[in-house]
This record gives sequence, C-alpha cells and structure tokens, in this order.
Amino acid sequence: MSLLHKINRDTAPRHIAIIMDGNGRWAQQQGEDRLFGHNFGVEAVRETLKAAQEIGVEYLTLYAFSTENWNRPKEEVDGLMDLLVRTISGEVEELHESNVIISSIGDTEGLPTSCKEELEAAFERTKNNTGINLILALNYSAKWELIRATKQIARLVKSGEIELDQVDDDMMASMLSTRGIPDPELLIRTSGENRVSNFLLWQIAYAEFHFTEVLWPDFKREHLYKAVLDYQSRERRFGLVSAQLEKNT
Ligand code: IPE
Ligand code: IPE
Ligand code: MG
Repeated sequence: MSLLHKINRDTAPRHIAIIMDGNGRWAQQQGEDRLFGHNFGVEAVRETLKAAQEIGVEYLTLYAFSTENWNRPKEEVDGLMDLLVRTISGEVEELHESNVIISSIGDTEGLPTSCKEELEAAFERTKNNTGINLILALNYSAKWELIRATKQIARLVKSGEIELDQVDDDMMASMLSTRGIPDPELLIRTSGENRVSNFLLWQIAYAEFHFTEVLWPDFKREHLYKAVLDYQSRERRFGLVSAQLEKNT
C-alpha cells in the first residue's frame, strides 16, 4: 500500500505549516552557489502543494522569508526576491487552474515593489477559488506580529473601545496576520535543524512537530505523506490524560 493510502483523510491536519530549510547546504553539496538551491526549492514547493491537495489539507503555510533573512548577503537577498517575483508570475495561472487560493502573512509592505505587485495580482486572480489555501510567510516573524497585535490591543484599550478584561485568546488571535485561519496541527521543518526560528509562535502552541533531515530541495510528496502519518500516530492530549481521551471517543 502506498503511503498516501495509509493516511486517514478524516483525521488529517487541516493546516500544515512548513519551515523550508536547507537550500543553501543542498547547493553546497552540489558545488553550486546558494541561489541554485533556492531555485530547486521551488520544485519541492510544487510537490508539497500537490501532496497537500491529495490529502485534503485546507491550509498550507510556507515560511519563505523571515525578517532576519534580510541580514544575509545582498546578492542572496536580491536573488530570493527575484525568484519570488519570477515564481509567482510563472505559476499563478497553473495555481489558479488547480483552484488554489494564494495569500500571505508577514510585513509585505517591506517587500520590493515588484514583489508586492506580483503578490497582489496573484491574490486577486485566485481570491474566488475554493481549494487549498497556500499561505506564503514573507518578511514574516512571530515577534513582529505579536508586537503589532499587542500595540493594536493597547490602542483599543486606551481609546476606550474595549475593556482590558475583554482581552482574551480569541481577541489576540484576531489581531495576528493569521486571523481567520485555524492554527496548524502539524509543523514540519526540514534540514535537521530542531528550532522554530521565529515562526508562528502563538499559532503552534499545540502543534505537533515533525523534524526531518531531508534538505528542502529534496523534499518530495512521500516526505509529506510520512510527516502526516507521523502526526496521525501521535496522541494529542491538550492537557488531559489518555483515559479521558478514550472516554470521549
Ligand atoms: C531556506 O534555506 C530558505 C530560506 C531561508 C530563504 P536556507 O537558505 O536557510 O538553507 P541553509 O539552511 O543555509 O542550508
Ligand atoms: C528559517 O530558516 C526561515 C525560513 C525558512 C524562511 P533560516 O535558515 O533563516 O533559520 P535559522 O537562521 O537557521 O534559524
Ligand atoms: Mg537555513
């Protein structure tokens, strides 16, 4: 039986978030420069998206560029922005054909104008689709959005529009760039690094983590199936004890 058929679609995650890491090391292994790795990373994105569609995932969030990534050598940053523009403009029609809704999280105002324009066009083109939501985390960091949300709430309290006691879990979630999107049940990171690197800190409070040694450009559909099967083998207790969960099922 193929790995895909082992997945129980009824209990598959609705939202998978991925820290796509290892492009640079993959390129180095081939004796190429880092941008070569980023270019090959696009194929892994295509494969992953198709696998997520096969499984019936509703939201796929991909960490494509962090606020810290601006500190990389200028040549790499420029190359990544250029790749982003080329990829979005080159892929948008096919994504539209397969009913994908494209959106982003992060401080997109800080992106170059050409990126912003390409992104806007892609959002507009795909906004009425009804399939998987492909969410690109661009110029994103969790601390950035948590600070922004905190400021927004403080402003509302200060102006008297809300009472301090009204601040709760739901209000905080509604101030984040993931507003309206369910929290990811599964977080995947490639390349053997076991850290979160400022990604979705609020939203992954109860996510299951799947770390794999595979470098992002080598990530194939099978790797996503494996991650989902790993997720389905876990017991998610949310603070309860096993016996309580058994009673509820
Ligand atoms: C991930 O691959 C892509 C981005 C962060 C944009 P890296 O470029 O971080 O690759 P490594 O970690 O150096 O191998
Ligand atoms: C995290 O990868 C950011 C993205 C995948 C876009 P990094 O390669 O930037 O993370 P660190 O620096 O190794 O933690
Ligand atoms: Mg990295």
